[in-house]
Amino acid sequence: MTIADLVRPEIRALQPYEAAQQVDDTIRLNANEAPWSNAADRFRRPLNRYPEIRPVALGESLARYFGCDSDRLLVTRGTSEAIDLLIRAFCREGRDNIVTTSPTFSMYAHYATVQGAFERSVETRATDNFAVDIDALLDACDDSTRLVFVCTPNNPTGTVIPRPALIELLERRGERSAIVVDEAYIEFSDEVSTVELLQQHDNLVVLRTLSKALAFAGARCGAVMGPVDVVRLLNAIQAPYAMSTPVVECVEDALQAAGLDEATRSIQSLVRERRRLMDAVRQFGFVEHVWPSAANFFLVRVTNSGAVMRYSEQERVLLRNFDGSLANCIRITVGDPDENDRLLRAFEQIEASRK
Ligand SMILES: Cc1ncc(COP(=O)(O)O)c(C=O)c1O
Repeated sequence: MTIADLVRPEIRALQPYEAAQQVDDTIRLNANEAPWSNAADRFRRPLNRYPEIRPVALGESLARYFGCDSDRLLVTRGTSEAIDLLIRAFCREGRDNIVTTSPTFSMYAHYATVQGAFERSVETRATDNFAVDIDALLDACDDSTRLVFVCTPNNPTGTVIPRPALIELLERRGERSAIVVDEAYIEFSDEVSTVELLQQHDNLVVLRTLSKALAFAGARCGAVMGPVDVVRLLNAIQAPYAMSTPVVECVEDALQAAGLDEATRSIQSLVRERRRLMDAVRQFGFVEHVWPSAANFFLVRVTNSGAVMRYSEQERVLLRNFDGSLANCIRITVGDPDENDRLLRAFEQIEASRK
C-alpha cells in the first residue's frame, strides 16, 4: 500500500491527455495553430505555437533548485493549483476529508469545498504561539482522511512546525494519508526544507512557490513534490499546456545564478526589515501582542482592529484583518523600508488619536 492507492480510482485509471506531437524542424499541421506570429510576440519561443505540454527543462531546473529528482516534481500554476490538484486527485465527493490546522491558509478548505470533500480543522491557540499539537492532528484523522495539510511557516500566524514534530506526524500517520507540507514561506525562516525527507517518507508531499521569496507572484509558478506515482497521477489531471510560454521563459530567467543571488540578498534584507518593523510596532500602546514570525509577515493583536484598518487605509496602506477568526488580529506583510515607514506613520497617528 502506498499513498497513490488513496487516489480516487477513476483518477488512477486516467490516461494523460495526448497532445499533438511537437518535433523540431517539422511543419506542424497537427495542432490547429496559426502559421504566423502575432506582432506583440516578444518571447524566445514563438507564441503562435502551443508550449510544451509540460515544461521539461523548467521542471528539471526547479527540481535541482528545490533539491529532488525531476520525476518527483510537477510544475504548477502557483501552489494554489497544486492544492487543487491534490484535493481533486485524492478526495471523493461527499466521502473523504482533509485535516488542517486553524487558523491557516484558507485555500485548503476552499478547494475541499469545491470538490465536495469535508474539512476538519484542529484549533491552535494564540496563548500557545499557535503551536501545532500532533496528537490532536492525528486524533482528527479517520479512515476517510486523504490529506493532512500543514503549513510551515504558517499563514497567517508565522509559526514554524519543528522538524521532529513533522517527522512524528509522517511516521505515526504512515500511508493512511498523504501529509502535505506547504512551505510557501520557508525561505524567510531558518528551517531546512522537508524536500530532503522525500526519499525516507513515502507519504510526504511538499509544496513550494516562486510567489514569495523569488518575488514572482505575478508569474504564477510553483511546484508539488512527492512520490513518483503520485506526481504521475497529478500530471494526468493537470490541464494540458498549463504553463504558458511567457511564464516558462520568465521563470527560466529567474532561476539563473544572478536572479537567485539577488533573491538571497532580498530575503536577507526582508528578514532585517521584519525585525525592525516588529520591534517598532511593539512599541505602540494600542498593539497588545506581536507573535513571533518566520515568514514575510507577522500577526498582531490590537485594541481595536477596525480603527487600525481605517487609519492605515487613510494612509493608503492595506493590511489584512483576521477579526473573524482571531479577535482584533491583523496580519502585516513586511514591505520595503519606505513602505514600512509609511505604515509606522499611520500607526503614529492612531497613537496620537488615543491621547
Ligand atoms: C501558505 C500559502 N500557500 C500557498 C499560497 C499560494 O501561493 P501561490 O501564489 O504559489 O499560489 C499562499 C499564498 O498566499 C500561502 O499563503
